[in-house]
Amino acid sequence: MESGRPAGAAAELDLAGLHPALDDPALESMNFLNEVASRYPDAVSFASGRPCEEFFDIALIHRYIDSFCDYLRNELGYSEPRLSQALFQYGRTKGIVHELVARHLAVDEGIQADPEAVVVTVGCQEAMFIVLRALRRDDRDVLLAISPTYVGLTGAARLVDLPVWPVRSGQSGVDLGDLAEQAARARAAGLRPRACYVMPDFANPSGASLSTELRQQLLDVAGQQDLLLLEDNPYGTFGDGTRLPTLKALDTSRRVVYLGSFAKTGFPGARVGYAVADQRVMAGNGTFSLLADELSKIKSMVSVNTSPVAQAVVGGKLLENGCSVIKANIRETAVYASNLRQVLDGLGRRFPAAGLSWNAPSGGFFVVVSLPFAADDELLEYSAREHGVLWTPMSHFYGAEGGTHQVRLAYSQLTPDRIEAGLDRFAALVADVRTAGSGVRPATASRA
Ligand SMILES: Cc1ncc(COP(=O)(O)O)c(C=O)c1O
Repeated sequence: MESGRPAGAAAELDLAGLHPALDDPALESMNFLNEVASRYPDAVSFASGRPCEEFFDIALIHRYIDSFCDYLRNELGYSEPRLSQALFQYGRTKGIVHELVARHLAVDEGIQADPEAVVVTVGCQEAMFIVLRALRRDDRDVLLAISPTYVGLTGAARLVDLPVWPVRSGQSGVDLGDLAEQAARARAAGLRPRACYVMPDFANPSGASLSTELRQQLLDVAGQQDLLLLEDNPYGTFGDGTRLPTLKALDTSRRVVYLGSFAKTGFPGARVGYAVADQRVMAGNGTFSLLADELSKIKSMVSVNTSPVAQAVVGGKLLENGCSVIKANIRETAVYASNLRQVLDGLGRRFPAAGLSWNAPSGGFFVVVSLPFAADDELLEYSAREHGVLWTPMSHFYGAEGGTHQVRLAYSQLTPDRIEAGLDRFAALVADVRTAGSGVRPATASRA
């Protein structure tokens, strides 16, 4: 059939004809923030939750690979040809550092994970994607997520056409009544709430953590509602030393799929994360597999396997630290704690009077500031251009309404000087908006 277009005409696609997620604000959020940051390279950025760069050292990458190779040789008995194959060839879909991940979980988190239930992924992002892909059977399925939530999760859900229903976080980090209510509401509408996504430790973006009691209650409600809990824990080890048990450590009924990332505890460039999915998946003939094995089928069609070179680097870092990411990050954790203190003290000094408020997490990468005026993308643009400071509008982390008067400040990547300068600039922005009222925007602000 001919379309009537001349041969050789450039191919053109219509966005409206592509996957609807491509039109969704959740997928544009990260690009927008990166794009603003790239246009104002001198701005102090409280926007991105990147790990500190002070201890990056190329030599470590080589050393870690050597350590991992020694482990394959000496602990696992690999011959030299098998060793080369392990690093150069296509590899096991579920990964080659699964035993080390399981050791790390035992050492740092008190989680006893079967290495066979571990799927090593291309960052936690891939773990989220393949879990959501597996859980979404048809358009009756919905995902619950504590709101505000991580845009990476919302975006992945959009890509697999899985609606995300927000659950209120309330004062304590999760409103269990609302969780039960949302699950019931979904069921009453003929839908299947499959799981609830939650970050119990130093959540992104809120910085909030759940008490141990609440974690236990959350597991109970998930059991009553027959929901899986998707526990995402990239920041849990960056606290003041008082560790609370992860949901997975408390989980006695395989209710929790644990999502791990080495982006902050290793380094983001390695792109290594994982899922622990020990749930039994029953087949019609009475046999069962592990959810990890089903996820592995999806992964084999998404990324084939996680780069063994990247896994070797992360594996080497684990091995050199007795498989403890807490031990591996003693210096980094001290930097984050000091930055957090500096941000909280600095906010207190600059905003002593009422009008602004902020939370005071005991760890993680983020503080949330509540403002007496709206803080949206246009104000961010204005802030970058006129005051040289970047932050993230909290509205990016709410599916619909919410967070309009709040900003997330990420302090993990900044030096003390930059934090002081950034807070001064942020205070100047606040004074500017307060003086000018809403006139500051959009009259002088522009996305151009
Ligand atoms: C809540 C949350 N989950 C996961 C990740 C890390 O994902 P990845 O391992 O793909 O870098 C991040 C990083 O920003 C995050 O904030």
